Amino acid sequence: MSVAPFFSAIAVAVLLGSGTARAATSGSFDILSMNVAGLPAILQSNDVPGDKATNAGTIGSDFAKYGYDVINVQEDFNYHAYIYATDNHTYRTATSGGAGIGSGLNTLANFDWIDFTRIGWNKCSDASGSDCLTPKGFTLMRVKVDSGVYVDMYNIHADAGTESGDETARNANLQQVADYIDTWSIGNAVIVFGDTNSRYTRTADDIGIFASQNGLTDAWIQLERGGVVPTVESVCDNPSTTNDCETVDKVFYRGNSILGINATYFNYESTKFVQADGDILSDHNPITVVFSWAESNSLRQSDFWGGPHGTWFSDLTTLSSRSKPKASLLTFRGGSRLDSVGLTLTDGTAFVHGGTGGTQAQLSLGASEYWTTAVLCQGQKSGETRNFYIKATTSSGNMLTAGTATSDCATFSAPAGWQIVGFVGQDGDEMDQLAFIFAPQ
Ligand SMILES: *[C@@H]1O[C@H](CO)[C@@H](O)[C@H](O)[C@H]1NC(C)=O
Ligand SMILES: *[C@@H]1O[C@H](CO)[C@@H](O)[C@H](O)[C@H]1NC(C)=O
Repeated sequence: MSVAPFFSAIAVAVLLGSGTARAATSGSFDILSMNVAGLPAILQSNDVPGDKATNAGTIGSDFAKYGYDVINVQEDFNYHAYIYATDNHTYRTATSGGAGIGSGLNTLANFDWIDFTRIGWNKCSDASGSDCLTPKGFTLMRVKVDSGVYVDMYNIHADAGTESGDETARNANLQQVADYIDTWSIGNAVIVFGDTNSRYTRTADDIGIFASQNGLTDAWIQLERGGVVPTVESVCDNPSTTNDCETVDKVFYRGNSILGINATYFNYESTKFVQADGDILSDHNPITVVFSWAESNSLRQSDFWGGPHGTWFSDLTTLSSRSKPKASLLTFRGGSRLDSVGLTLTDGTAFVHGGTGGTQAQLSLGASEYWTTAVLCQGQKSGETRNFYIKATTSSGNMLTAGTATSDCATFSAPAGWQIVGFVGQDGDEMDQLAFIFAPQ
């Protein structure tokens, strides 16, 4: 894929002097979803010829060779080590175990992430196949594509089969992911990619739930089907020679008020993943999608500080409906740690996150005074990382602090000409994880 737009975006960011924290304001990345057929050979041949360990090694070499930015694998059970031995991606999840123990879900990426979570299904069905044999489910990670550029990426492996018990379980699986997105990805850009075991013609599944409930677009429907949802089943050959046919492996996405995201390319990558003699490596066609992204000119965000605990919150949804937001009052609470952060906009909208402990500290901002810089310090409480301290500095040099400083601190400055107007992160009765939302002054 072309790298030219990426580098010109860096050049623009440097010329604008937008600060060390900002790299590019636009770019592109590609993803791959592949069911790697890694059940033990004695249980399941997957109708793939050859030795499964050798095939897993070839899959890993192909991952390294083609260098996809984020790869979600499913059914990565008993030949996992052979894939990782020949792959060379910098960031990779640790396996959750072989068949019977693990979920078979792993991610290999050129980007780092935060908040990695594995979630098991609430419902499974052995109506056909043995879906309850191993705890499948889905994973979430907030992938850091660039500084202040995060996309919540979900890997998924839903219940298999077409008996009515299977479809009931799969419908519950998809509903579980959709509800999870509504809670844990509020306000965020999202990409769901994995093995849904669903087709649009399996209507009892309601695979359309990601569009109807979460506002996600199916990249295949968009790019290969002209936006029209199929009503007639079209099964792919493997390797597939056309992108027009439907597989159960799917890619859904949305941007947010910080980040525009577009799928620009969709392809079944099957012909890249073959054995030395041309045989297939998996019974699933792997899928790639290329995404272009661009940061908004009205809202952006910082990186995060603190630990992956507490409940997700975001002021973005409220902020995206405000024109020219500006903080007029900062309200923090702290003691031995940081209890809460809050701010009130000039239109009276108030944001507050965290708990009610500690001592309150407030700072009123003048009509032409903006909150431009924040320092956060983190530390350990009961073996978990939290934010212990905040220091806000305004464009007039006024300061407000709360909590207790530690030696593990980071400074978050709004880009030149921008200001801090809100928060995203995870909280409980204290501030576990925190990032700042920026808007132009
Ligand atoms: C991984 O290996 C490929 C060659 O197969 C190479 O082109 C690529 O630069 C390597 N990537 C990393 C992150 O080392
Ligand atoms: C996405 O596509 C739309 C319509 O073509 C375009 O207006 C927008 O700028 C694109 N955004 C990105 C991030 O490429």
